[in-house]
Amino acid sequence: MNVPDLIRKKRDGEPHSRAELEALILGYTRGDVPDYQISAWLMAVYLKGMTPQETADLTMVMAESGDLMDLGDLPRTVDKHSTGGVGDKTSLILTPMLAALGLTVAKMSGRGLAHTGGTIDKLESIPGWTSELEEAQFIAQARDIGLSLVGQSKDLAPADGKLYALRDVTATVDCLPLIASSIMSKKLASGAHTVVLDVKVGAGAFMRTLDDGRGLARAMVDIGTRAGRQVRAVLTDMDTPLGHMAGNSLEVLEALATLRGHGPHDLTELCVALAVEALAAQGEDAAQAEARARTTLHDGSALAKFRAFVDAQGGDATYVDDVSKFDVAPGRADVTAPTSGFVDRIDALSVGRAVLALGGGRERKGEAIDHGVGVELVKKPGEAVQAGEVVMRVYHRDERGLHTATALLADGLSIRAQAPTPDPLILDHVN
Ligand code: URA
Repeated sequence: MNVPDLIRKKRDGEPHSRAELEALILGYTRGDVPDYQISAWLMAVYLKGMTPQETADLTMVMAESGDLMDLGDLPRTVDKHSTGGVGDKTSLILTPMLAALGLTVAKMSGRGLAHTGGTIDKLESIPGWTSELEEAQFIAQARDIGLSLVGQSKDLAPADGKLYALRDVTATVDCLPLIASSIMSKKLASGAHTVVLDVKVGAGAFMRTLDDGRGLARAMVDIGTRAGRQVRAVLTDMDTPLGHMAGNSLEVLEALATLRGHGPHDLTELCVALAVEALAAQGEDAAQAEARARTTLHDGSALAKFRAFVDAQGGDATYVDDVSKFDVAPGRADVTAPTSGFVDRIDALSVGRAVLALGGGRERKGEAIDHGVGVELVKKPGEAVQAGEVVMRVYHRDERGLHTATALLADGLSIRAQAPTPDPLILDHVN
């Protein structure tokens, strides 16, 4: 097949057949089609879009570009994915909840990039914990304790790894069919029967508007359904960080408090809502599912699963019970309210960028990060404040990035005279 003809076809807005997508994507993954041709094709996709059938075909081709994980006879397998946000430690809480509810979570997670955090980075705040498991251990652990988590493997959906790196440098990341196929190719390759998607919408997310978020959710649910999986999506607000903590160790501490039943309201409610989606996809009654999900946060069963999971993956499980062991950066600086009133906005993107400036995230793949730095939202939107009162606390190390971080946070904070109407956290459901 002639690659310039395929680029021309997409440039002119015509749909590709599956065979054409195979020629392009598998050719690129093998190294037979060069970066410059795929760059041109990606830009054509960005400008002309793809039909639902093309998006589903592209996803399958990407999923089948490498190994397909065989979860075999594992019972009630479930995977969860968030499209990325700030302070989003949901996976740390939800996955042990699901294991405690009798589901099997065998999940692939990523690291943080730019202003968004990643589950693997957060868990590495616990000394010894590793995301590098052999496939046999990954499966055996999922069978034994109902929860195992690995880092992104080069062998699963390798086409996505190559395409994502190219999209990153060709201004083609924020394109609905490319995001949907990127996420879903990894979900299909990692084998779970049920997939729960948390599609973030707002200032700190890829999708800035609810309509765009709905479009992405619909595309991903459609891909999963065509591939014979149960996929449910929840659209959630990411204008403001989730919970009170952003930064790796700080987020694990907040996740542990939530697993003990003392989590912030928004974070707890989101975890319960996502657990209900997973159980409902397996045919459970929603009201009963909600009661069961809440119980796991109060009877110690989700916490016990988390402890067993940390231990199984080489982590020092004493950190789970003695949280004073976590390395939290010793420096403190406060961002205060410039006037009295009510907190209107704490911009998620500003908080994410502040954590990045402090050294808690990475601009480029492979950079080392400082797990101990971060930002605490002492107040959340809607709360009353007096002029000079602390709204955010910065945890820094030797003032690295402190000036930039506090400027970003001050910029992202707005106070208003009247109490704002609270925005709902859960904006919509798609299934
Ligand atoms: N997450 C992914 O895995 N891929 C994208 O394209 C965007 C977010």
